[in-house]
Amino acid sequence: MNINRRIQTLDEFTIQQMRDFPNATGELSGLLRDLGLAAKRVNVEVNKAGLVDILGDDGSINIQGEEVKKMDVYANNQFMGVLQHGISCAGIGSEELDDIVVFDDLVSNKSKYVCLFDPLDGSSNIDVNVSIGTIFSIFKRVSELGKPATKEDFLQQGNKQVAAGYVIYGSSTMFVYATRRGVNGFTLDPSIGEFCLSHPDIKCPDMGKIYSVNHGNFFQYGEAVKKYIIACQKKDNTSGGPYTQRYIGSMVADVHRNLIKGGIFMYPSTVDKHKGKLRLLYECNPFAFIVEKAGGLATNGKIRILDIQPTELHERTPLFIGSKIMMDELDAYINTELKENK
Ligand code: AHG
Ligand code: MN
Ligand code: MN
Repeated sequence: MNINRRIQTLDEFTIQQMRDFPNATGELSGLLRDLGLAAKRVNVEVNKAGLVDILGDDGSINIQGEEVKKMDVYANNQFMGVLQHGISCAGIGSEELDDIVVFDDLVSNKSKYVCLFDPLDGSSNIDVNVSIGTIFSIFKRVSELGKPATKEDFLQQGNKQVAAGYVIYGSSTMFVYATRRGVNGFTLDPSIGEFCLSHPDIKCPDMGKIYSVNHGNFFQYGEAVKKYIIACQKKDNTSGGPYTQRYIGSMVADVHRNLIKGGIFMYPSTVDKHKGKLRLLYECNPFAFIVEKAGGLATNGKIRILDIQPTELHERTPLFIGSKIMMDELDAYINTELKENK
């Protein structure tokens, strides 16, 4: 081990990146620093889960019609609070809140950016000590600077994202974020309380051996998806052998693993849920941006996730995301079905 290796913290890294842009104001670095701070606070509580009264249901139902966990509320308040008190964000949208929150004060109104987030992803895993996460998406405002942010700032196509990222509270805690320059991962060093660059320039392998999907819903999926899943289990796929099935039920953990190792993650539409389950603005857009910047692909089965024009804050979309070759394989099944149905 080279003990002289220079470890770069998240703050050092984002400031370093700014050096290449003489006109940069530092707002994006500030925003990422704020998100890192909130992540560390959430991490502390996640680590104490079981010891303190933070597990279980909050007793309320969110706008999505889902049971809210105490940790969902805690994480939402941490991320919203830190961004509201910071000076780099004009407003937020959250999976846990009915509507956007516009900060509307003199400083915030001058901020260039708005942020959307899923404060805690993988709610069903919170109480059973399985990895959970936070997902975020950052847009440059389209509304006039100096005035309060508007709904239009939040309802932009994913291809307009300036940055997106996630935090995984797992066997170690990681902060991964992407800008148009690439994807970088930072692991929390608990001894100094800093996220340190551990995964520079992450690339998603073009091919993997993992497919991730909720098999319990198999008979609810469309014919093309069913055929592709069967192909994953047989030898008629590019790898020439069955793929491995991995699905933990926390999108952050599932997509993180596939991003690093190569693989495909699917949350298709079902007979009952035509738009699937995952939310475009809080889950699909940020991951589509990250995975594409790492060399992978993300679609709703028809078009790129990043090209969908959102019309509502909480809208859902089917999602297929992952390694390029596996996404191409899936596409072939979808196109064959389309031709057959013409
Ligand atoms: P959330 O906890 O933010 O509501 O998201 C849970 C999501 C996602 O993380 C996961 O991939 C998916 O729900 C699992 O859904 P199923 O249990 O229907 O497979
Ligand atoms: Mn989620
Ligand atoms: Mn959530």
